[in-house]
Amino acid sequence: MNKSPDAQRMEKIVSLCKRRGFIFQSSEIYGGLNGAWDYGPLGVELKRNLKDYWWRVMVHERDDVVGMDGSILMNRAVWKASGHEDTFTDPMVDCRSCKARLRADQLIDKKGVKQCPNCGGKDLTAPRAFNLMFKTFVGATEDESSTTYLRPETAQSIFVQFKNVLDVSRKKLPFGIAQIGKAFRNEINPRNFTFRSREFEQMELEYFCRAEEGMKWLDYWLEERLKFYENIGIPREKLHAHEIPDEERAFYSKGTYDIEFDFPFGRQELEGVAYRTDYDLQQHQKASGKSLEYFDEETKQRFIPHVVEPSAGVDRTVLALICEAYDEDTAPDEKGKLETRIVLRFHPRMAPIKCAVFPLLKNKEPLVAKAKEIVDLLRPHMNVFYDESGAIGRRYRRQDEIGTPFAITVDFETLGEKDAALRDTVTLRDRDSMKQERVKISELIPLLSSRIA
Ligand code: GAP
Repeated sequence: MNKSPDAQRMEKIVSLCKRRGFIFQSSEIYGGLNGAWDYGPLGVELKRNLKDYWWRVMVHERDDVVGMDGSILMNRAVWKASGHEDTFTDPMVDCRSCKARLRADQLIDKKGVKQCPNCGGKDLTAPRAFNLMFKTFVGATEDESSTTYLRPETAQSIFVQFKNVLDVSRKKLPFGIAQIGKAFRNEINPRNFTFRSREFEQMELEYFCRAEEGMKWLDYWLEERLKFYENIGIPREKLHAHEIPDEERAFYSKGTYDIEFDFPFGRQELEGVAYRTDYDLQQHQKASGKSLEYFDEETKQRFIPHVVEPSAGVDRTVLALICEAYDEDTAPDEKGKLETRIVLRFHPRMAPIKCAVFPLLKNKEPLVAKAKEIVDLLRPHMNVFYDESGAIGRRYRRQDEIGTPFAITVDFETLGEKDAALRDTVTLRDRDSMKQERVKISELIPLLSSRIA
């Protein structure tokens, strides 16, 4: 069967990710581990740029948000109180024909008859609840008393530390606590590359407010988050705010939106923005017996704040950035013949390498020395890459393929050999337009910094 253009595009993206060192299969030399991924030298830079920008926008640029970094292992009582131990489940079905384990919502429905998506079999077990939390044991004994779980979301450590953070930060409502960290879910069917993984990272904000302002802050955060995605290079027309209907929302939520993105494999959730009311703090107050109330100094009232939660997936956003950036166009090769060019059109803010620096020829010492001088000049300001091997056109292509927005070439004019007026200037080439301009070395830092930020 012929693959659809979207499926072919996704295959090319997965292969580029491996070939250029964005994402590798975890434990690959042992056959891999389903649902786990490793980020290579470029992937880790992209991921870091995303997390740093989220932290900058959500924490540093605001007066009303502070950060924290909670542990992955927590007291089992947390997961009992939050409801995860009893209800954090997916309905699972077994196909008796091909023995596949499937999520009930992934079955194919043909004229009202459910079928296995792998083999088309109709001999399926009844759905049963499968808890997605990874169980583990703390200490040397492996029994019920030492059982706990790897956290399935970062949010709960924010709720259980609410009082401590409030006391030390002396914030007034409304205010938020932000966290970026690992979460683990034993997904029945990890799929679509990194989209549904068993180990992943979340960027979560719990924004505490008064009950009467919950819906207002829900609308506010939905809009802020949509702007965030636009600012990292995901156009608004590929983003969709899907309002979750009453019957599908968690029982304690008064309003939830999924922010979805048009991936090559379909429209899928990037982030949830949920008004969780006071459910979590109430649960933890009840179960721990410790007060999680807020004291309003003006009205002298004590109450449990409500919370609005924008919860984004790091790995899903990285995948969205790569899918959105991937493009193919044509460019002339060394002999002027048009060839296909693969280019990742990352927003410069997200690009793993901001600028490549090339000496025109590697065997001309003064060119090499000048290029290395420029690398040293730029390095404190941005991630730069020095490359002297191969023809200039090949070097440009290698950078296009990993999304480097700018490339500098040091040539004989830089040395002032042809025209003294051009001494200490370089060519600056733009990845997307492939246009080149002549720029003074002394102007490189402000020029590049303004284009990157
Ligand atoms: N604290 C709320 C919460 O965890 P969620 O909708 O279950 O809500 C939030 O998860 C985000 O975490 C999702 O929108 C998604 O980006 C990411 N996420 C959830 N499960 C994931 C998985 N198995 N693989 C990758 N990312 C996942």
